[in-house]
Amino acid sequence: MYPVPRGQTPPVHRTALTAGFDFAALSRWPYPESPELQAHDAADLLLLDTAQAWWDAASRDDGGVPPAIVLEDRHGALTLPLLSAGHAVRIGQDALGQERSLDANVATFRDSGALEDAGPLSRHGIGPDLVAGARLILLQLPRSLDALEQWAHLIAEHAHADVLLLAGGRDKHMTPRQNTVLERYFSSVVPGRGRSKSRVITARGPRRGRPAPFPRTAEHQMPGLGLLALAAHGATFGGTNLDPGTAFLLRSLESGLQRGGLEWAGRKRAVDVGCGNGTIAVYLALASQQAGLDGLGGLSVVATDQSADACASTRLTASLNEVQDRIEVLRDDALSTFPDASEDLLVLNPPFHAGNTVDTRVAVRLMAASARVLRPGGELWCVWNSHLMYRPELERLVGPTRQLARDRTFTVTVSTRR
Ligand SMILES: C[S@@+](CC[C@H](N)C(=O)[O-])C[C@H]1O[C@@H](n2cnc3c(N)ncnc32)[C@H](O)[C@@H]1O
Repeated sequence: MYPVPRGQTPPVHRTALTAGFDFAALSRWPYPESPELQAHDAADLLLLDTAQAWWDAASRDDGGVPPAIVLEDRHGALTLPLLSAGHAVRIGQDALGQERSLDANVATFRDSGALEDAGPLSRHGIGPDLVAGARLILLQLPRSLDALEQWAHLIAEHAHADVLLLAGGRDKHMTPRQNTVLERYFSSVVPGRGRSKSRVITARGPRRGRPAPFPRTAEHQMPGLGLLALAAHGATFGGTNLDPGTAFLLRSLESGLQRGGLEWAGRKRAVDVGCGNGTIAVYLALASQQAGLDGLGGLSVVATDQSADACASTRLTASLNEVQDRIEVLRDDALSTFPDASEDLLVLNPPFHAGNTVDTRVAVRLMAASARVLRPGGELWCVWNSHLMYRPELERLVGPTRQLARDRTFTVTVSTRR
């Protein structure tokens, strides 16, 4: 389909796909908005113009332009211009917040009449269905090399043998290791010319039959518990590592319980907010079975994360540790499906990145969501980097906050909902 020889790329210019689209009308909601943050970046525009350059160079003898597959569109800056230009798009996003952001922008553009001649949009989980038979895939390069590796393997296995993978990013977020990962799964990996401090890597020639790199598992020694097995799919925060903040939180919890200094008796349910690989949820489920940790007796656990991979990892971690019957896993963005004043105990190790940028507002948003969901008298357990000084925020959003443990790196607090 693409007459351009492997190892080469067609010249890329501004095209109608980007010149005619009102990127400024895209919103970042439900992510934090501010004047200096946009819902698109130069890598989105370069990816779109590069796709158009390939379409222009392609022979159309075999039935026109096949659907574009978009992987990891943050707010719709790839999907919406393609739809508006009449392309059919299949979309896969790991984070539910990104799905909500795209949906909100689709609704706005539809209401404004900008999608009257739009092509069809279909959503899939990031898996074989998404990329089956694909000829053109646009990918916003993820921050995590593990996520990139998982998706490169997926595409190499399931896309068309002629697939063209266009992977774009901002120069400041790109590393040669991304090329190395792609080279494991594609015989031709060509970094394109930079434009506006962004670049698109073109990968072709899928190498099939490589072993699936994920999920992975690892074992960790846990205080008071023995070995804990952790599982991770590629797009899971921290992979199979025991997060140091989480380890500090669990140590304080364990010593509090041993001293009988925690008043958890009577609480029936705990929520692990942003469960990642499931460490906290599984720890709580296991510890509540152990005679030595009576304060946790009879606890059931809900583990929730916006990342599809985190949820799948937590399910696997729960099965590996044989507590799958005590843990319910829910993909949700910032507890949005939890009723107000419905929970007694939330445990949070908050994120501090929104995509590639460090933004403490993503943590504050989860604290505010936790405050909404807690019953009066309910507790939010939180671990955070000591330099972030979240205590005033916790006091303001949740209620009286006491410090349970602190070292130079981490602080653990308990806030009681007023
Ligand atoms: C610092 S990690 C902690 C992971 C895990 N609890 C641990 O202790 O290793 C934060 C987690 O919050 C999740 N997260 C980020 N934003 C979220 C949101 N809006 N709603 C739910 N989860 C979110 C991330 O996907 C990530 O897994």
